[in-house]
Amino acid sequence: MRFSLLFFLSWTLCFSLLFSSFVDGHLLPRNARIALAELPLPSLPSNLRPQATDFSEFDLEAALPPASNTLSQMPVLPTNCAEYVGGPECPSSMTATAVTYEDCGDAFTVCRCDNANMTLDTAVDRLGRVPVGLRRFVGTVFVLENNATRAYTNLSTGDIHLFGDCAMDTWIHEASHTFDFAFFSDFVPSNTTGWKQAIADDSCVPDSYSLRNRVEDFAQMSVLKIYMLLHSGHLPPGFESACMSHQLDFMGTLPLYNAQNLFGNTCAINDGSFGVRKPPVVLDEGRVFMTVPLDPTPSPTATNSACRLKYGEWTLWGAFLFLIFGL
Ligand SMILES: *[C@@H]1O[C@H](CO)[C@@H](O)[C@H](O)[C@H]1NC(C)=O
Ligand SMILES: *[C@@H]1O[C@H](CO)[C@@H](O)[C@H](O)[C@H]1NC(C)=O
Ligand SMILES: *[C@@H]1O[C@H](CO)[C@@H](O)[C@H](O)[C@H]1NC(C)=O
Ligand SMILES: *[C@@H]1O[C@H](CO)[C@@H](O)[C@H](O)[C@H]1NC(C)=O
Repeated sequence: MRFSLLFFLSWTLCFSLLFSSFVDGHLLPRNARIALAELPLPSLPSNLRPQATDFSEFDLEAALPPASNTLSQMPVLPTNCAEYVGGPECPSSMTATAVTYEDCGDAFTVCRCDNANMTLDTAVDRLGRVPVGLRRFVGTVFVLENNATRAYTNLSTGDIHLFGDCAMDTWIHEASHTFDFAFFSDFVPSNTTGWKQAIADDSCVPDSYSLRNRVEDFAQMSVLKIYMLLHSGHLPPGFESACMSHQLDFMGTLPLYNAQNLFGNTCAINDGSFGVRKPPVVLDEGRVFMTVPLDPTPSPTATNSACRLKYGEWTLWGAFLFLIFGL
């Protein structure tokens, strides 16, 4: 099935939004095995209350254990990285590094643009903190420069493109997309009747960005579910479970979303998942899942520099965005 996606927008109004407009956008390649009926996805019903503006009030970085790694610079830039050099994502040059983590035998490829905001060490550290059960679905990781911090996932390849200084919630959000779409039309969790019904049965969603559509809601719920597993079942301060209990329950029905399979110290997880991009080899018995103390309730003025999802800009963008699909 061939797929073409054309964007038309009002340049006079939207030029400044061009780069931020792909905030977590789902770019579909021409050969994507994704049904046309799937797009464009409608926003979630407006009766669903976002529990927060965004996830900037908590940071999962300290709660997630790092994974030790070995780095090896690749002599030749892989073609899927080279195609971005000289383009808007990476006007300068790019370096590819093979990253092997202690909990997964196959190396990840990290392609870092030379002017990227995140250092290679930061990117490698944050990728290593993505729970291995989720990380094994990630393709190539692109680390790029931009004035606006944002990210998107290529749903066909599982490649993640991160701009600016993306915090852990964004890394997990994008990794969740790679899991969601790893099986293509065979099983897309966010496209199941179970997930759609869960949303219909609830009265809230995690944050404003979750309202964008059920795919984004799934990725944001994945972040919260992982937070809960790390924090003995507690949501971040200020969030409640009752109004989104069906969505949380749905996450719990997925074999991946339990401590054993997410944090099982190895990507050799026997949870029946296919579509895994990093086959297993290594198991470090010494690396164990541990819950962490609860986060303090933030003061009203507390902020951090987390990768904020620009849902407001999306709304404006949406007004000028037309999707044209052709076979
Ligand atoms: C997704 O990745 C493939 C392989 O690198 C690439 O050919 C395709 O253009 C990418 N899609 C988008 C929309 O960037
Ligand atoms: C970032 O902003 C600076 C100055 O404001 C500008 O020169 C530069 O081109 C911008 N970079 C991007 C990627 O938009
Ligand atoms: C990324 O670095 C550039 C300078 O290379 C800077 O202008 C920009 O503000 C930084 N972006 C973020 C999100 O910090
Ligand atoms: C979503 O589910 C519908 C059937 O409910 C199916 O036709 C479509 O192909 C699915 N889309 C994806 C991306 O799996």
